Amino acid sequence: MIRRHASLASLNTFGIAASAEALAEIHCLDDLRAACADPAVADLPRVVLGGGSNVLLVRDTLPALVLHMAIRGRERLGQENGRELVRAGAGEVWHAFVQWTIAQGLGGLENLSLIPGTVGAAPIQNIGAYGAEIQDVFHSLRAYDPASDTVVTLDAAACRFGYRDSVFKHAEGRALIILDVCFALPCAWTPNLRYAELAQAVAGLSPLTPAAVSAAVVAIRQRKLPDPAVIGNAGSFFKNPVVTRAQCEDLLARFPTLVHHWQADGSAKLAAGWLIDQCGWKGRDLGRAGVYEKQALVLVNRGGASGREVLALAHVIQAEVLARFGVQLEAEPVFL
Ligand code: EPU
Repeated sequence: MIRRHASLASLNTFGIAASAEALAEIHCLDDLRAACADPAVADLPRVVLGGGSNVLLVRDTLPALVLHMAIRGRERLGQENGRELVRAGAGEVWHAFVQWTIAQGLGGLENLSLIPGTVGAAPIQNIGAYGAEIQDVFHSLRAYDPASDTVVTLDAAACRFGYRDSVFKHAEGRALIILDVCFALPCAWTPNLRYAELAQAVAGLSPLTPAAVSAAVVAIRQRKLPDPAVIGNAGSFFKNPVVTRAQCEDLLARFPTLVHHWQADGSAKLAAGWLIDQCGWKGRDLGRAGVYEKQALVLVNRGGASGREVLALAHVIQAEVLARFGVQLEAEPVFL
């Protein structure tokens, strides 16, 4: 069933009070087929929404048919090459799915605990945290292609994963609608403790289990990141910028405490949170939008902010970081 002029306030974690021209709840492939074929909304562009945790609603009314993905289900598919295959519907809540895999005795997703959003949204930006990315344990996904009215299967190579990036953010994959995702989790688990703060948090724990690592990740996130149920936000608002070796060395000469991580190809990834923090924005507000006091990379809704107010704050921050460091910050959420 398609609803007209539907509120999106409860469907975006920024808590922006915008609405959609039309909204359809999608519980199965048939719902999706019907919504895409409905002549009453044929003139509207389609926007897919999962948990709404990585979007900024910039307009008061989104002139689109919003497909709210609510396809549920999770199952074990058996073993393949020493890995256990598990599949989940696009509408499953990501953290609940992670917890389910851990309860099943399976490790591999614990570093990605408590990331807001849904299973179907996870591959789109190749969600990552604490030294892990979804691409590390991704097997394949099924997606609906409205143009050909077919279901296609994509493996990891076809998804073209990058840092907070995949084919679904580019022209070739943008129209595909993810139905479910399959992960290949190691039968023989070893912890991933590349992220120093996580390694410290679990040091001395014996035996170290996926559940213990998950609990440590949850504690770190709760310490640093605002709970969207309490303070509207979309996680990191900017990507960590990647600069050339020469640019990083030049910056280090001028700012010796610059937080940076050298990449395998010689480039360097800078901590955008540090850059914003240095510009004095941590904890500051502009209108009803603000910068979170414990992590400058997260923009928050102080209450009643419009998408335009959040955008205005983002633009001021980008301009100041550019003026001071010569680095262009790129927004991480999708602007609708
Ligand atoms: N820092 C500051 N001030 C700040 C924030 C950070 O100085 O206000 C410096 C600190 O030195 C800190 C470093 O920046 O050690 C890195 O900060 P943090 O470990 O919090 O990670 P991040 O680089 O800011 C990224 C991801 C997060 C992910 C964490 C942990 C991006 C855009 N963000 O943040 O992902 O949880 O690493 O792995 O890559 C998200 O994408 O929504 C997200 C929250």
